Amino acid sequence: MTRAWSPESWRELPAAQQPDWGDPGALDLALKELRNQPPLVFAGEARALKAALGAASRGEAFVLQAGECAESFDNLSADSIRDQLKIILQMAVVLTYASGLPIVKVGRIAGQFAKPRSSANELVGGLELPAFRGHMVNDIDFDPVSRRANPKRLLRAYHQSASTLNLLRAFTKGGFADLNKVHMWNQEFVAASPQGRRYEDIANAIDRALRFMAACGINLTSDVSLHQVDFYTCHEALILGFEEALTRQDSLTGDWYDCSAHLLWAGERTRQAGGAHIEFLSGLKNPVACKLGPKATPAEVLELCERLDPDGEAGRLTFIARMGAKAVREALPPLVRAIRDSGRPVLWVCDPMHGNTFTTAAGVKTRRFEDIVAEIKGFFAVHELEGTFPGGVHLELTADEVTECLGGGDDILDNQLVASYRSLCDPRLNGNQSLELAFELGELLQAWAAPVRSE
Ligand code: TRP
Ligand code: MN
Repeated sequence: MTRAWSPESWRELPAAQQPDWGDPGALDLALKELRNQPPLVFAGEARALKAALGAASRGEAFVLQAGECAESFDNLSADSIRDQLKIILQMAVVLTYASGLPIVKVGRIAGQFAKPRSSANELVGGLELPAFRGHMVNDIDFDPVSRRANPKRLLRAYHQSASTLNLLRAFTKGGFADLNKVHMWNQEFVAASPQGRRYEDIANAIDRALRFMAACGINLTSDVSLHQVDFYTCHEALILGFEEALTRQDSLTGDWYDCSAHLLWAGERTRQAGGAHIEFLSGLKNPVACKLGPKATPAEVLELCERLDPDGEAGRLTFIARMGAKAVREALPPLVRAIRDSGRPVLWVCDPMHGNTFTTAAGVKTRRFEDIVAEIKGFFAVHELEGTFPGGVHLELTADEVTECLGGGDDILDNQLVASYRSLCDPRLNGNQSLELAFELGELLQAWAAPVRSE
């Protein structure tokens, strides 16, 4: 590659999924203001995440990447951020306890404001308007004003990300995430369910283990690892002007970091090796990821490695497979084999959400809990066969009692989906379904870890 990388070098290449911002003056103004804002995350934190992902690529940790499909400007409250963190902490406890592995916690939060769309416009009752592209771009209501892309939204996305991160940092470092608080993370409606009771058993066991260690004379107050968690943020690097404006040169190393989040990924629709998104990600020092659908070929995947991780640096590159429950056992093995045989230290994460979306007869977009579990099981089975490590999961969820995905312990039915469907975009697992999934995952991980332990 002779072309030199710079934060704006993507501009010379075809960029898929960029909105038509209309007035270029207004866009330039917004980007200029963004360039003057402080970074949201710091290079040292991105390096710490890269090291944690590197450990996961070697089978020494497991990644829990989870959060909203699309964050909303209308839903910025301390309660909603706290609840989102709560459910992720609960799941992390279940996974840590089951697997005996450190769980790398990465939220789809504090920046997940832009959505790729299959068509640029939407036609409703004879009226054609631009598609909703996430609150960073436009609004969801179907009228010409709401759907117009508005560059001022880029700034609002920045400020909401800053407020969200501020609260997340307080919660994760200021006592809320303390292991002594395991009981507190169980929300009322979850606590009353079978999953909630199963969680309470683990929480009680952790209490006992902590008391046991204290009785043995271990000083549990002095060790911060019991009282804090490292919580990282990620989102799809979709709107490249925004990401470019938050890309800064690290004063310590001279390297470039996109300081809008710790980890950035390219979607299935924007991962062309010769496209603008991959060009942009290629020059960053952050850990980066790329989604892979069932049509991805071994040659494409190896080319992405070459573009995104030419040096084979552990933790730098994650592939997020979103194959669908039916396709995963056929589509994934050739890709896993190609990477394994190339000797590259890539981390494999399973997104069991996006390949399992369908629309019901009543026109509601949904996913079946059973399909989500089936894809994860297929993902684990493929890695077991190929001798590689199933390094993590990527989920869309909320702690709330929504009815967006079918099935699970509560057995949400077709006709119940309308009861509480609040997602701006894709259907999310609710609190109960999320916890139930954590138990399923815990069992898979336990089976994985068992032979290693008995050696
Ligand atoms: N710091 C450790 C970790 O993140 C232990 C820990 C503290 C923890 N609070 C937690 C683990 C909450 C899971 C959930 O793994
Ligand atoms: Mn989604």
